Amino acid sequence: QITACIFDLDGVIVDTAVYHYRAWKRLANELGFDFTEEDNEKLKGISRVKSLELILGWGGIEKTETEREELASRKNNWYVEMIQSMRPDEILPGAKEFLQEVKAAGLKTALGSASKNSGLILERTGLLPLFDVLVDGNHVSASKPDPQVFLRGAEGLGILPEHCVVFEDAVAGVEAAIAAGMKVVGIGSAEVLNRADLVVKGLFEIHVPQLNNL
Ligand code: G6P
Ligand code: MG
Repeated sequence: QITACIFDLDGVIVDTAVYHYRAWKRLANELGFDFTEEDNEKLKGISRVKSLELILGWGGIEKTETEREELASRKNNWYVEMIQSMRPDEILPGAKEFLQEVKAAGLKTALGSASKNSGLILERTGLLPLFDVLVDGNHVSASKPDPQVFLRGAEGLGILPEHCVVFEDAVAGVEAAIAAGMKVVGIGSAEVLNRADLVVKGLFEIHVPQLNNL
């Protein structure tokens, strides 16, 4: 019996994946290299620090910790600049409606995001009131595929992992949900998210009654 839904943010609720990609690409370009959209898949769901480490690795570039901190905050400044002006119309199709449907059915909702910018995004898009519990990159020490972010969410809601379903667009996030002992609905390509219990193109494709058949 599913009694709670835990949502990733970027790429599930809002289309910020493209802003992350743009900002990282700009940073890589400034450092004199580029990376493909396929490589970008590997950045989804991964913390800021881990993403930078991967990117520097692709460019074959070594930086000191101080330099890495500067690079990560340079990227974040560009990213925050882009999301500052986000509007409710950047909520992905069906996301708000599905959240409302979940709440109306009496299920609990939590956010389980790696982002440290989730507060700003939820506030800009007006989605904050639809979440019972928020867990993001500011609250965890281990990032996806570690299950911590989702386990914290379930704990905050007071619901056992087996009664939770996670909605994720990232391979790392699908793995985190499985490691947490939760059901998982992938958002995106079934080929990429092949370990999910079900894959849909967006939250517009799923409804509450389906959640107990996963
Ligand atoms: C999400 C995104 C990642 C991003 C991470 C950290 O998981 O999918 O691409 O790197 O959050 O986001 P932040 O906003 O803290 O840099
Ligand atoms: Mg995501």
